[in-house]
Amino acid sequence: MIIAPSILSMDFARLSEQLEAVRASKATWLHVDVMDGHFVPNLTFGPDIVKTVRQNSPLFMDVHIMVSNPFRFAPVFIDAGADLITFHIEACKNSSDVREMISLIHVHGKKVGISLKPRTSIEAVFPYLDEIDLVLIMSVEPGFGGQAFQEASLDRIRQLKRAIARTDREVLIEVDGGINDQTAAKVLEAGAEVLVAGSYIFKQDIVSAVESLWSIKQP
Ligand code: DX5
Ligand code: ZN
Repeated sequence: MIIAPSILSMDFARLSEQLEAVRASKATWLHVDVMDGHFVPNLTFGPDIVKTVRQNSPLFMDVHIMVSNPFRFAPVFIDAGADLITFHIEACKNSSDVREMISLIHVHGKKVGISLKPRTSIEAVFPYLDEIDLVLIMSVEPGFGGQAFQEASLDRIRQLKRAIARTDREVLIEVDGGINDQTAAKVLEAGAEVLVAGSYIFKQDIVSAVESLWSIKQP
């Protein structure tokens, strides 16, 4: 299991203290939610904040770009320190756009993820499973932390797991939205490997919140 605290819910007045607590926890990734106020209603971090986080944390930078123009922003956040860029399939017009995005990120030597909103058919990502490193299943409507987990995501995880099993590749399944100690157990059981959690981790003691996820028995 990989735990990726979403810094969207972080107290930025205590950035270095909270990054230190995350580093001391069993989390190994940092999930960075970039939003452009157009693809999703919220507007969040620019490259300068991501650079600051990069300079203050040794963790793997898992950057989730919820933007209408991923071609423009992927290089910007790779330059800011992203190790993985996950873009939305809904922001691509067609399969050549998707494949252009995949090679754009790979050519920079970074990992590639594709994310799907809850209402997008999970099968939309199947044609790309041989070319990507991760699929990010949104278990809430993207835009804001603190929303309730959508139970329908569990079947989507199971369908995706079966599709990945039909390839000979290691494609990680990441789940994002409403993850806590209850829902985490369900998504792990369904086949997810990477847990994104924002409010559950940053609205209480960070180390023990991560520990409560880490101690969940994996299937
Ligand atoms: C929502 C973001 C999620 C969010 C998760 O659009 O992509 O990463 O920060 O927050 P919680 O864990 O509070 O649902
Ligand atoms: Zn996210």
